[in-house]
Amino acid sequence: MTDSITIRRPDDWHVHLRDGAMMAAVLPYTARQFARAIVMPNLVPPVTTIADALAYRARIMAALPAGVDFTPLMTAYLTDHSDPDEIYRGHREGVLTAVKLYPAHATTNSAHGVTDLGRVMPVLERMAEIGMPLLVHGEATDPAVDVFDREAVFITKILDPLRRRLPELRVVLEHITTADAVAYVERGGPNLAATITAHHLIINRNAIFQGGIRPHLYCLPIAKREKHRLALRRAATSGAAQFFLGTDSAPHAIPTKETACGCAGIFTAASAVELYAQVFDEEGALDKFEAFASLNGPEFYGLPPNESRVTLRREDWPMTDRVGDGDLAVSPFRAGETLGWRLY
Ligand code: NCD
Ligand code: ZN
Repeated sequence: MTDSITIRRPDDWHVHLRDGAMMAAVLPYTARQFARAIVMPNLVPPVTTIADALAYRARIMAALPAGVDFTPLMTAYLTDHSDPDEIYRGHREGVLTAVKLYPAHATTNSAHGVTDLGRVMPVLERMAEIGMPLLVHGEATDPAVDVFDREAVFITKILDPLRRRLPELRVVLEHITTADAVAYVERGGPNLAATITAHHLIINRNAIFQGGIRPHLYCLPIAKREKHRLALRRAATSGAAQFFLGTDSAPHAIPTKETACGCAGIFTAASAVELYAQVFDEEGALDKFEAFASLNGPEFYGLPPNESRVTLRREDWPMTDRVGDGDLAVSPFRAGETLGWRLY
């Protein structure tokens, strides 16, 4: 039995760091676990311009604990009014790593999202020319579509037609939750990849209703049936280059989760690398963990993998039941439970 593994330091290819006091509370966790992270732009108001991204990046750097080596990779939030020249210049100047597509009203803070892909074609065409990745929240927004079908419907109705129209566009289908997405990404060729969260590898939809409603397990895309979780585990632990780590760690203060209409988002940043390691261990695939956590992502983004190494050990440790204080305290995934792998 392997009790310890050493891998290149991982990166998180999808995280919500928020802003202000919440960012100050959660950022140290991400920066401890990861060398780099793709930072989601769904602030209020969203990050849409080079100036917004530069200012947000400066706030992140200012909030970093001293001596921590962490690089935020910034994204722009695509709106119906995004300017192709601004996006192009942001990428060329090294400020904007990627652009995020939220279909309007698909999830938390997506009211400014895209209402019709036709309106943003000039931006997407420009991105395809320069190889700038489009990061996609892949859920259909038609309220008539069942919440558990929204990812699969998005792939057939929106994503596939877009990719046929613009095959050179590099796309990351974010936080995939279905066997349908796994199959689509597997046959999508070199311009398509997907991130997979730790929580979608661990819970299925039953967990959300186990013994009562569990608001801290509610996120979007929502966890699906067991067969989908198993497909995600197969994809992640296969080592295949299209699949890589993206936590979608999304902190919400406890009162905004434990309420009549609770926010979507699961906070995993306090133990993400350990949670993934546990999954790879359970699948007998620790030898594939470095590819998923530290190699496939940089490869897709055209960045070098990190030079420094981290070690994980098989060791029981208690997950805290609160992160942050007062009104902003967050309940982390696996709050108060014992985890079986520990990051050093
Ligand atoms: C995210 C958030 O809270 O910003 N929520 C979530 O459930 N994942 C938004 C998102 O990525 O959908
Ligand atoms: Zn997200």
